[in-house]
Amino acid sequence: MTERQLFLGGYVLFPSGHYAGAWRHPYSTRDWLGRDFLHQTARTLEAAKFDLAFIPETVSHNPDFTRHGHSNSIKHDPAQVAGQIAAVTTHLGVGVTLSTSFNEPYNLARTLLSLDHLSGGRVAWNVIQSHGPGNYLNFPHVEELSGAELYDRGDEYVEAVLALWRAWEADALVQDQESGLFADPARITVPDYRGKYLAVRGPLNLPPSPQTHPVIIQAGDSQRGRTFGARWGDVIFAIERTRADMQAKKDDLKGKARAAGRDADRIRLFAAVQPIIGETKEIALARRDFLRTRITPESGVRFFSHFARVDLAGVDLDARYVDVIEERATDGQTESRAIVQLDELLGARRDRVTIAEAGVEFSTSELTPQVVGTGEEIAEELAAYFTSGAADGFLITPTHFPGSFEEFGRAVVPHLQRLGVFRTEYTGATLRENLGLA
Ligand SMILES: Cc1cc2nc3c(=O)[nH]c(=O)nc-3n(C[C@H](O)[C@H](O)[C@H](O)COP(=O)(O)O)c2cc1C
Repeated sequence: MTERQLFLGGYVLFPSGHYAGAWRHPYSTRDWLGRDFLHQTARTLEAAKFDLAFIPETVSHNPDFTRHGHSNSIKHDPAQVAGQIAAVTTHLGVGVTLSTSFNEPYNLARTLLSLDHLSGGRVAWNVIQSHGPGNYLNFPHVEELSGAELYDRGDEYVEAVLALWRAWEADALVQDQESGLFADPARITVPDYRGKYLAVRGPLNLPPSPQTHPVIIQAGDSQRGRTFGARWGDVIFAIERTRADMQAKKDDLKGKARAAGRDADRIRLFAAVQPIIGETKEIALARRDFLRTRITPESGVRFFSHFARVDLAGVDLDARYVDVIEERATDGQTESRAIVQLDELLGARRDRVTIAEAGVEFSTSELTPQVVGTGEEIAEELAAYFTSGAADGFLITPTHFPGSFEEFGRAVVPHLQRLGVFRTEYTGATLRENLGLA
């Protein structure tokens, strides 16, 4: 067995995540809203020894996305979802996404530290700064920030949350029944955090959790976003189309982490991948083709339009992709990640495909790389990716719920274990321990 072991996260974004047709997949549940689906997903991920279930967040409503069952068409409160997942597991971590834009530091810090206690130290916070006007409609009192300022405020926010989480010394909760000293105020700091953008006095009425406080996840991609992630992230999530791009991102993040005075080897980079598993390679390829048939042309074009930020309303679905882009996209938009990387993916087909075909192609994985084959082939590919050093682990994007995770657990994980790159048992009790960050 090699010493370095890879990490696994499960992307619990339903009814559809990066694959826009997930809710229409014949094997997918229809019972999205009750706790049974969450419990089943949690137990499946834990049986497969995943490090964490990852719960994304959004607070905006997009009628197009709702119409087509895209990501965020239905959305529970992430902390409630995390509570359900933690309640039926003992080792699985839970990554909870909460926005710095619309929560007071005190509320957010307490919600997550409570969850961290109640789960025995298995919670992570995915720190997001919300951008785009749609997000701000429900919070008219919040000033919309963008670019660097958004992340400058984010820096303050994380400082404030960490100050709240670290206010109690480890031994402040004395519980001396003889003397009558329950907790020692002398061992509790009042953070009284005051920044340019926000202030909070604190402390919370909670001591440190079994892993001290939640692990921090970040997924910024812009230069400023990466600087932020490199400063604060224990775990970084990234979507890159190729291994070389992921390696470049890792090098960049490590450089930025060192510049921030951190030990760069303590950052865990998770590469998002979409496994498509078959009993044979041919079956896996057929399943990949099948996925496209579950996305209607209209739905694919709406999904792509959103990410490319190009208005495609009323477009002729049979028009050539290149003509539509030339006619509708501005210069800035043609340089967007969605268009540049979709162009790369289409390659020589770019000039031939219709806008509908391009939209469906984009919507099968939202540019997340697909790994297609038997369980053994997928395990070998992931092991090679990991061994190359380009990533420390993988964020598994499902194509249907909860079957994708079940199949991955049964068909891929045993081969990762045989190859010596993945645990056969959890080694730690807390998420921080399992990630080798205790
Ligand atoms: C795997 C992954 C998961 C993400 N989850 C969320 C999420 O739940 N909510 C959200 O608003 N943004 C989410 N994001 C977006 C990032 O937080 C970030 O805004 C994005 O990568 C763009 O980077 P930038 O802010 O530096 O421009 C996610 C990104 C990635 C790669």
